[in-house]
Amino acid sequence: MKKSEIINLISLAQKARKNSYSPYSGFAVGAAILAASGKIYTGTNCESASYGATVCAERAALTAAVSAGERRFTAIAVAAGQKPTPPCGICRQLLAEFGEMTVICAAADGDGHIETTLSKLLPDALTNNDLKG
Ligand code: THU
Repeated sequence: MKKSEIINLISLAQKARKNSYSPYSGFAVGAAILAASGKIYTGTNCESASYGATVCAERAALTAAVSAGERRFTAIAVAAGQKPTPPCGICRQLLAEFGEMTVICAAADGDGHIETTLSKLLPDALTNNDLKG
């Protein structure tokens, strides 16, 4: 990925973060996912008084993309906190449903980031292949 594409994805995640609904944790998260089509979809975390019903920013972005018909992804950026924030385990698992992609972990502000891959964050993920036979 070009540096300019990474910076753009981070800035869209940071912008989405501003819409976070997180009255319980106070931890606002934004995500932006780049589909193979070239389109970018964003999401933010949405919390619930029934805490377990909370949806993370990454899954909000992913499901927006899937709802628009996307199935292949190049990269996702996550933006939260004072230092680069990694996606949680549940989000890693749902992202893995769609195969390998670059994961960019960023803070709420600034261009600083960690660039990694989904397979590094979730090696040996359970996939559809494991459900056969
Ligand atoms: N959260 C995300 O949106 N993404 C993550 O990967 C980590 C956790 C949200 C869920 C909850 O609203 C808040 O951050 C604190 O866990």
